[in-house]
Amino acid sequence: MFKLIAIFCLLALFELSNADIQAKRLFELLKSKRSRNSPVPHKWIASEEATDEYSPVYIAPQDGLAQLDKIVALPGQPAGVNINQYSGYVTVNPNAGRALFYYFVESPTDSSTKPLVLWLNGGPGCSSLIGAMSELGPFRINSDGKTLFKNDYAWSNVANMLFLESPAGVGFSYSNTSSDYDKSGDKNTADDAYVFLVNWLERFPQYKTRDFYISGESYAGHYVPQLAYTVLVNNKKTNQTVINLKGIAIGNAWIDDETSLQGMYDYWWTHALYSDTTHDAIVKYCDFGSESTSDICGNATDKAWEEAGEIDIYNIYAPVCLTPPQRNTSAIPGSINNFDPCWQYLLEFYFNDSTVQEALHVRPTSWDLCSNVITSWNDSAPTILPIIKYLIENGQRIWVFSGDVDARVPITASRYSINALKLPIETPWRPWYLNQEVGGYLEAYKGLLLITVRGAGHTVPSYQPQRALTLFSSFLGGILPPSS
Ligand SMILES: *[C@@H]1O[C@H](CO)[C@@H](O)[C@H](O)[C@H]1NC(C)=O
Ligand SMILES: *[C@@H]1O[C@H](CO)[C@@H](O)[C@H](O)[C@H]1NC(C)=O
Ligand SMILES: *[C@@H]1O[C@H](CO)[C@@H](O)[C@H](O)[C@H]1NC(C)=O
Ligand SMILES: *[C@@H]1O[C@H](CO)[C@@H](O)[C@H](O)[C@H]1NC(C)=O
Ligand SMILES: *[C@@H]1O[C@H](CO)[C@@H](O)[C@H](O)[C@H]1NC(C)=O
Ligand SMILES: *[C@@H]1O[C@H](CO)[C@@H](O)[C@H](O)[C@H]1NC(C)=O
Repeated sequence: MFKLIAIFCLLALFELSNADIQAKRLFELLKSKRSRNSPVPHKWIASEEATDEYSPVYIAPQDGLAQLDKIVALPGQPAGVNINQYSGYVTVNPNAGRALFYYFVESPTDSSTKPLVLWLNGGPGCSSLIGAMSELGPFRINSDGKTLFKNDYAWSNVANMLFLESPAGVGFSYSNTSSDYDKSGDKNTADDAYVFLVNWLERFPQYKTRDFYISGESYAGHYVPQLAYTVLVNNKKTNQTVINLKGIAIGNAWIDDETSLQGMYDYWWTHALYSDTTHDAIVKYCDFGSESTSDICGNATDKAWEEAGEIDIYNIYAPVCLTPPQRNTSAIPGSINNFDPCWQYLLEFYFNDSTVQEALHVRPTSWDLCSNVITSWNDSAPTILPIIKYLIENGQRIWVFSGDVDARVPITASRYSINALKLPIETPWRPWYLNQEVGGYLEAYKGLLLITVRGAGHTVPSYQPQRALTLFSSFLGGILPPSS
């Protein structure tokens, strides 16, 4: 049986066989966070700020490697698409033999003046090639799992896009020291990603001083701010590369456990997914800020999941994958405006193919959407809000976007989390427009923009590619999308 994936799942500890079990991953996360083996609630700000000392990071000579990483063409790529693509490994720890895989797409026009943007998917433990091939990259995969079609709304139209499979153990990224996988956690993920960046910039030195942004979704609501924070803290102390970080954009991002859980159930209830009786019980018995979950709360939330049925929790109005595609069916040309609910299979077919792996310069790998080798997560901050505050105080541009039909990390969760920051409002809630239709809504706070994408699920660009590109261009330009 094909394993269903959860883009947001804290611990990939379970063999999943159906949607119902997938949905239960959140409970397992909660239980794990409130059990004796719970991830360490590492306090980022206090520990990093404490020392002024800089420990130089590993930097290897990278001369000539970029040319070796150049992709001639991706297998199945449509003719007449002229873009520079690169992929390969960057070693982040030579002693352990740890290397992270990246896929880089240069903007086809004026790449030398456009910013550099890193994209990260979440999980933890899920591949950023999900973003590259089913969300915002230059191509998507046709129904045969072998050929590609063009994404007219690729984010590489407006930026040079770098996709990183992180941490080691995800996708093609690996470690020769397998015990490294057991040390996976927020902190090591950020530290390795930082070493990756510094080395990648040696390999592509023309990007060293370029404006740099970090973006991502879901559990990358942890990764992105934490990496941004790591960059800023190191920038202040380093005698190595100073990274020209300008801001972050995070979508349907998990940034605060307590408010997000509350927001999630409130969204479900207000979107007719479960009963008043169950909601009353959740309100009465669940304290999402507490260290432990009572049985009675656990039973109420179980009931909510049960009452919601087997919908796609990442887009409550989308069709689910009813007939999984076969590996060798003929291609039905895909459409950028019609997201294939069976996309997970197509990604696994494509990236597991040996000719694709050769073209990407990777060693033979059984590629999966989410890691099978990372079976526990060492540290997970219960809240990212202090880091967000730090980024605001350090002048970073921060956009929090949200597909408004995602029920996994819904807009209600983002609103509650941002409200907890108590930031003054600068531009009150208003619609934004694209092609004479409301593309979504926004509210600008001092230092942070909250912006929704109407009709988009958890993976925003998958469902609303044109609106997502408008949002992303506006983010890079530092301007609000049109009010009419
Ligand atoms: C991991 O081990 C293989 C086989 O010895 C070697 O070819 C590869 O370079 C090592 N990876 C790293 C990052 O050191
Ligand atoms: C787990 O996380 C804590 C807090 O960040 C850290 O002190 C510890 O070294 C980590 N353990 C491993 C095995 O990385
Ligand atoms: C950077 O600082 C470290 C010690 O913190 C030192 O060993 C190293 O030589 C310095 N590098 C340069 C290029 O100054
Ligand atoms: C929770 O559900 C379990 C299993 O149905 C049941 O045995 C238990 O009594 C319930 N606990 C409470 C507090 O309702
Ligand atoms: C293609 O499908 C046929 C039957 O549908 C099967 O026998 C064959 O093994 C498949 N080939 C591959 C490469 O999967
Ligand atoms: C990927 O390939 C490996 C063998 O290289 C195989 O064991 C695995 O089942 C494949 N996965 C998928 C989803 O095709």
